[in-house]
Amino acid sequence: MNINVPQSKADLDRLCEEAKVTIPYSEDTSVLATPIKVKNKTLHNRIVYQAMEGCDGTKDGIPDELTLRRYTRFAKGAPALIWFEATAVMQEGRANPRQMYLNEKTADAFARTVEMIKETSVKENGFEPVVICQLTHSGRYSKPEGVPAPRIAYNNPIFEGNNPIEQSAILSDDELDNICEALIGGAVLAEKVGFDGADIKCCHRYLLCELLSAYNRPGRYGGSFENRTRLVRTAAEGAVAACSDEFIVTSRMNIYDGFEYPYGFGVHEGDGITPHYEEAKELAKALVKIGMPMLDFTMGNPYFNPNVNRPFVGSLDKFGDHPMFGVERMLKGIGEVKKAVPDIPVISSGISFLGTEGAKVNAACIEAGMFDLAGFGRQTLAYPDCAKDITIGSGLDKKKICIACGKCSEVMRAGGTPGCVIRDGEIYAKLYKELVLGKK
Ligand SMILES: Cc1cc2nc3c(=O)[nH]c(=O)nc-3n(C[C@H](O)[C@H](O)[C@H](O)COP(=O)(O)O)c2cc1C
Repeated sequence: MNINVPQSKADLDRLCEEAKVTIPYSEDTSVLATPIKVKNKTLHNRIVYQAMEGCDGTKDGIPDELTLRRYTRFAKGAPALIWFEATAVMQEGRANPRQMYLNEKTADAFARTVEMIKETSVKENGFEPVVICQLTHSGRYSKPEGVPAPRIAYNNPIFEGNNPIEQSAILSDDELDNICEALIGGAVLAEKVGFDGADIKCCHRYLLCELLSAYNRPGRYGGSFENRTRLVRTAAEGAVAACSDEFIVTSRMNIYDGFEYPYGFGVHEGDGITPHYEEAKELAKALVKIGMPMLDFTMGNPYFNPNVNRPFVGSLDKFGDHPMFGVERMLKGIGEVKKAVPDIPVISSGISFLGTEGAKVNAACIEAGMFDLAGFGRQTLAYPDCAKDITIGSGLDKKKICIACGKCSEVMRAGGTPGCVIRDGEIYAKLYKELVLGKK
C-alpha cells in the first residue's frame, strides 16, 4: 500500500481511518512554546530533540566533524532540551567503533562540545538548552571493533534463531555490578563536563532494557521484577547519590518491547504481544522515588520491530502494522504510564511519522495530560530547525519534514554514519548510495 506521512489534517484523518485509530489533535499549538521546570532548570519550550546517534565520532569516542555539525544544527534549531546520543561508559559496550565514549581521557572534548551547544543556542535563540547525556552499554548490540561482540543478559531465540549466542557472552552478576559502577562513574563525569543531566539508558533492548525481560535468568538480576530492574535502579541510586542536587538523573526507558513473554517487557504470559503497562508503571514510580525528576518513554527494538520503535512508511508492507497504528500505540502507551507519575515531566517518542501534523497532535496530547514534552527523533535529522518553526515560526514546513522513509536507519545498519538522505542529501545521499544501494 502506498503510505506517506501526512501533510494536512485531511491526510492525517485518512491515515487514521485506514489504521482504525483516533489520536488527539489541536490546531492551537501554543502550549509547545510554553516553559516547564525540571528541578531548578527551566526548559524554554516543550520540544525535545531525542537521542540520535550519528556513529561518527573518532575511534577514541569523541565528537568528530559530522558530530559537531549535527549538534550545531540542533542547537540552532531552538529545542529546549537536547538529549545527547548514546554514549558508552566502557569500550566493550560500544555499539560501533565510532560511538561516543565518555571517560577521563575524552572528558575535555565532551566539555568543549557541551559548551559549543549551549553557546550556539544562546547566540542564535537567546536561551541555553538543557543537555542530557545518554549513558549506555549496548549489550547484545555491542560491536566495539566493528564486528559483533555481544554481551547479553540471556539467550533469546527470537533474536538468535537456531544459532544461540555462546554462554560466555552472558554477563555474570559480578560483571553487571561493574557495569553499574561504570554507569555511575559516567554520570559523575557527565556532570563534570557540563551536561545538565545523565540518562541511565534502559531502552530499545540495549543491555539494561534487555534485563527487564530476564524472567528466566537465575541470580540477582533475573526472575522477579525487583531483580530484572535492579541494574537501572541501582545505577540510578548511585548516580543520584554521587552527583549534585541540581544534576538531572533520568532514564529513557522502554515501557513495552513488542515481544512475547518470556522475551519481552510489558507483556503477559499467554497474551502474545498485547501491551500491558503495570510493570512499566511500577518501574517509572520506582525511578521517580529514587530521585528522577523527568522520564523519557519509548518502545520496541529498532532491529527487530522498527514498526513499534519508529513507525515508518514501510511498517504495513514489511511488518503488517500500519504506521498510524504504531503512532497511536506509542502515544497512548506513554499516556497510560504517565498516569503513574503525574507530577514529573514525561517526554513522547516515535512521532516523526506525523509529518506536518506532529506539532498539532503533540500539543493536543500535552493539553490532554498524556505527556509534557514532544520528543522528535528522525525529524531532527531532516529538519533541524523544526523546534524553531513550531514554537516561533509558522509551523512545520512540508518541504522540510521527515518523510519517515527509514533510509537513515538503513545507513546505520549498513555500518555507516546516519543522517537524512532526503533533506541533507549532499552528505548522506552519497553514503546511502555507496553503502546501502551498493550492497543491494
Ligand atoms: C539514525 C538513528 C539514530 C538513533 N540513535 C538513538 C540513540 O542514540 N539513542 C536512543 O535512545 N535512540 C536513538 N534512536 C531512536 C530515536 O531517538 C527515536 O526513538 C526513534 O527514531 C523514534 O522517534 P521518531 O519517530 O521521532 O524518529 C535513533 C534513531 C535513528 C533513526
